[in-house]
Amino acid sequence: MTRKLAVLISGEGSNLGALYRSGIEIAVVVGDQPCTGLNKARNFGLVRERVVCHNPKVVDVEYSRRLMYVLYNMYQIEVVVMAGFKTQLAPVFFEHYRNRVLDIHPSHLPAFKGRNPVLQTLQANPRPAVTGSTVYLAGPIPHEGRILAKSSVPVYASDTEVPLTNRIKDAEHKLYPAAVKGYLMELEQMSAA
Ligand code: GRF
Repeated sequence: MTRKLAVLISGEGSNLGALYRSGIEIAVVVGDQPCTGLNKARNFGLVRERVVCHNPKVVDVEYSRRLMYVLYNMYQIEVVVMAGFKTQLAPVFFEHYRNRVLDIHPSHLPAFKGRNPVLQTLQANPRPAVTGSTVYLAGPIPHEGRILAKSSVPVYASDTEVPLTNRIKDAEHKLYPAAVKGYLMELEQMSAA
C-alpha cells in the first residue's frame, strides 16, 4: 500500500526535486509563500497548493488548521515531508500527524538547532571539521524528535556559507529520498505487524 504523501516547501525546492526524481509518489506540494519550489513542482507536473503564511515565525493555530484541512480533508495525506518549510506549525498539527511528519535540518542535530545552522557551524569555536544534515521525525519542539538518518560533509578552513550550503545540499539530495523511503517501509512493516 502506498501512503499518500505531501511535501511542504518555502524556497528553492532542491530537495523536492530530489524526492521527485527518486520516484517517491508526491500527492501534493504545498508552499507557504510564492517560491521557486512551487514553479519546479509545476514543471514536474505535480499538484500544488499555496497555503500562505504571513508570519512564519509565530506559531499560528489557525494556520496549522488551514494546512491540516488542505492536507487531510482535501488530499487525504498520510505522511508529510517538510523540505525547507519555514512556518512553525502548532502542536495540534503534530498531534494529528503523530510520527508522520519528517523534516531535514542542515546540521548534525542536536548541534546547531534553530536558525542559520550553516552560519552557526562556520562561526563555532572550535569550528567542526565535519557537518551535514539530519532527517528526523518532527514535533512541536523545533529540531527535536527521533533521528532517522544523517549525512556528513567536510568543513574546510576556507569555507564560507554558499559553498558549504551547496555541499550540504548535494548530500541531502541522496540522504532525504533514501530516509523517506526507509521510513515509509518502516510504516508498512508496523501496520503489517
Ligand atoms: C535545506 O538545506 C534543508 O536542510 C533546510 O532547508 C533547506 C531547503 O532547501 N531545512 P531546498 O528548498 O530544498 O533547496
